[in-house]
Amino acid sequence: MKIAIASDHGGYLLKEEIKKYLNQRNIDVLDLGTDSEESVDYPEFGHACAEAVVSGKADRGIVCCGTGIGISIAANRVKGIRCALCTDTGMAELTRKHNDSNILAMGGRTTDAATALAITKTWLDTEFEGGRHQRRIDMLDRY
Ligand code: RB5
Repeated sequence: MKIAIASDHGGYLLKEEIKKYLNQRNIDVLDLGTDSEESVDYPEFGHACAEAVVSGKADRGIVCCGTGIGISIAANRVKGIRCALCTDTGMAELTRKHNDSNILAMGGRTTDAATALAITKTWLDTEFEGGRHQRRIDMLDRY
């Protein structure tokens, strides 16, 4: 599996922690920036991660900003993206089972690193349940 990862300055430190975790698991990482805590614009990074996933350059993505909100909105503007902002492992499990989310969003100023890594683990390791959920997912891109 290859994971595209991106953040703005508010999510930069959390992105680096997640990258270390993915490396420990021998998961390929495509880091799309940002590269420091210097102020940047989250839409640019949300779109870049989303484009990497829809183009097939990565299987799934992880994005971080201060709250995870802005960058998740940006990612969700790209057709085919189902980006889920998660603040606990229960949400991570359900969004994989029910929404087949292909990008995980978290907030560097709202979620501590240990929680974020637990969320990441659950999100990576939980499969989509399919069945009735597939029909609803098919409806998302019909708008
Ligand atoms: C940047 O200051 C902040 O607005 C951004 O990281 C994010 O929280 C937006 O949703």
